[in-house]
Amino acid sequence: MPNTPELAEQYLMHTGRRLPVTFVRGEGCLLYDEEGKEYLDLVAGIAVNVLGHAHPDIAHALSGQARTLIHTSNLYFTRPQVELARRLVELSFPSRVFLCNSGAEANEAAIKIARKWGTQNRDGAFEIITSVGSFHGRTLATVTAGGQHKYSDPFKPLPDGFVHVPYNDLEAIKAATTDKTVAVLLEPVMGEIGIIPAAKGYLEGVRKWCDEKNVLLILDEVQTGIARTGKWFAYQHHGITPDVMTLAKGLGGGVPIGACLASPKADVFEPGDHGSTFGGNPLACTVALSVLAVIERDGLVGHAAEMGELLNGVLQGLGAKEVRGLGLMQAAEFAEPHAKAFQEHCLEAGLIINAVDENSIRLVPPLIITAEEIDRAQGIMHKVLDVG
Ligand SMILES: Cc1ncc(COP(=O)(O)O)c(C=O)c1O
Repeated sequence: MPNTPELAEQYLMHTGRRLPVTFVRGEGCLLYDEEGKEYLDLVAGIAVNVLGHAHPDIAHALSGQARTLIHTSNLYFTRPQVELARRLVELSFPSRVFLCNSGAEANEAAIKIARKWGTQNRDGAFEIITSVGSFHGRTLATVTAGGQHKYSDPFKPLPDGFVHVPYNDLEAIKAATTDKTVAVLLEPVMGEIGIIPAAKGYLEGVRKWCDEKNVLLILDEVQTGIARTGKWFAYQHHGITPDVMTLAKGLGGGVPIGACLASPKADVFEPGDHGSTFGGNPLACTVALSVLAVIERDGLVGHAAEMGELLNGVLQGLGAKEVRGLGLMQAAEFAEPHAKAFQEHCLEAGLIINAVDENSIRLVPPLIITAEEIDRAQGIMHKVLDVG
């Protein structure tokens, strides 16, 4: 009988590099492999499993809804869909919501909104300014929006209309703004590239500039949203409001769901403009509602801020060149290119971390992580690095 990696080699497209482990079960912040070995998970499915693994409230919502109604299509109304939209609006800013299945799909919706808004309001302007190093998904439009050539260049010709400027550089956005500009699309903390938070004053400046030039501000909160940074949404650290916001990852706690919120100014979709067969199905929406309810009930927004400080302190003690982060989105950049080896050695020692490149590790654990678990992670990292 071939093992799981052998079967994957034969039957799965080779789209990603996987670490040599097959997980079969999880509980809280712990995962277990086929041999029953236990791992402490500081990656949480890349900022997805906000309530950890096998959370009883998610299991309850999922199984209850599975026995009730899983899918109807968007030809009809379902209650969980409208309740989720209402809850997201209550937690963020006056807007309407389009529900979908992933971050890329949420960003596709945002891009289409911007283009239609440009047709209606800016004489056909269609260019979107995004940042070098950003990540917005893997569809053709979102991979082009993302500012990383390694992900987009193999798929040329790419869609027109995306301009990339350095992050945290307001002057670069100003210089790139033309009559063709319709929107600025930013991550409030760049995630995939290795956790680069918006500098103080940057998003405020961009908001002001967008207002002055009458272009939309779209914030991709796919990774930063749903309490990850110690606020429900990262923009709330900056005293601004976007015109459009996209969500996914943590929203379903592991069940695929995405959302695009548009303020009244940007709410341009009309019947027939956009759609998604599975988007906003009652199963995913019921789970998302339970995720939001547990975050609120258990005070996980404040907890994420508190645990984020602890985790930052742990990373400071690793002798890294730089430690960056906001809430439970933390990274350490090492002077030496040993991040991938560190990741492997931690895995062997029962700790899951994410090396984003040769020099940097990213930690985006479940929001339910405890001080004791952070302590345990510190012990393993120190042992692996032979520090302390
Ligand atoms: C900021 C950001 N936007 C969009 C995406 C794409 O989301 P998905 O993989 O659900 O399409 C990601 C995924 O890592 C992300 O971090």
